Amino acid sequence: MTLQEGIVNKLLHIIAAPRGDDSRTLKVSGVFLDNFIKKYPSCLIEEVKLFEETLPPLTLKVISGKYVLLGGGSLDEKLKTAWKDVERYIEQFLSADTYLISTPMWNFSIPYWLKQYIDVIVQPKYLFRYTASGAEGLVKDKKMVVITSRGGDYRPGSPSAPYDHQEPYLRAVFGLCGIREITFVNAQPMDMGQPLQEKALDEAKASAKKAAELS
Ligand SMILES: Cc1cc2nc3c(=O)[nH]c(=O)nc-3n(C[C@H](O)[C@H](O)[C@H](O)COP(=O)(O)O)c2cc1C
Repeated sequence: MTLQEGIVNKLLHIIAAPRGDDSRTLKVSGVFLDNFIKKYPSCLIEEVKLFEETLPPLTLKVISGKYVLLGGGSLDEKLKTAWKDVERYIEQFLSADTYLISTPMWNFSIPYWLKQYIDVIVQPKYLFRYTASGAEGLVKDKKMVVITSRGGDYRPGSPSAPYDHQEPYLRAVFGLCGIREITFVNAQPMDMGQPLQEKALDEAKASAKKAAELS
């Protein structure tokens, strides 16, 4: 069953926000999930808490395997063993039909464990492939919602907007994989005083509710 039929079987919640109940990002994600569950009560919600995972390191063997696949070859037994954990994360990713990423902005971009997760799962033959006419995404007909919070304010037109390397990066890398329908909810600014924070959180929660209703 697919999203086009209006049925979502599994949402994978990729959590890169480590602060638990103190996390502003997760407060907004909570509103999204409450409303998403109302819409899809039988949907399985699977979480991957990246900061609690031991993600596979990108060893030379893992990287060698990537180049074998890029060259059109197949992994031999030794490389397959090195790729066991990589494939586990890819399988989990591909088993979902919709994605929620919860991430704070760190140094204008994403926390390093989310970058490592992306480096692990975004692999040729699995999530994308190169053709003579360019890259082709292999993750078809899937949607993604990304909920972020930022200390500052990077909304379009603001002086800090050019420093937002988070939303453009995530759109680019998951776009490469074929996920083009990506909705961002950015709670900002979180660290420029309480009145601004409260207003921004209220706005983000309202946007998260809408994103769930439209999902
Ligand atoms: C390591 C680190 C780096 C950060 N870098 C930025 C940054 O580049 N820009 C920004 O606006 N806020 C930055 N922040 C602030 C967080 O984005 C902000 O407080 C966010 O709301 C935290 O999300 P959380 O409450 O879910 O943990 C940084 C925070 C940390 C811990």
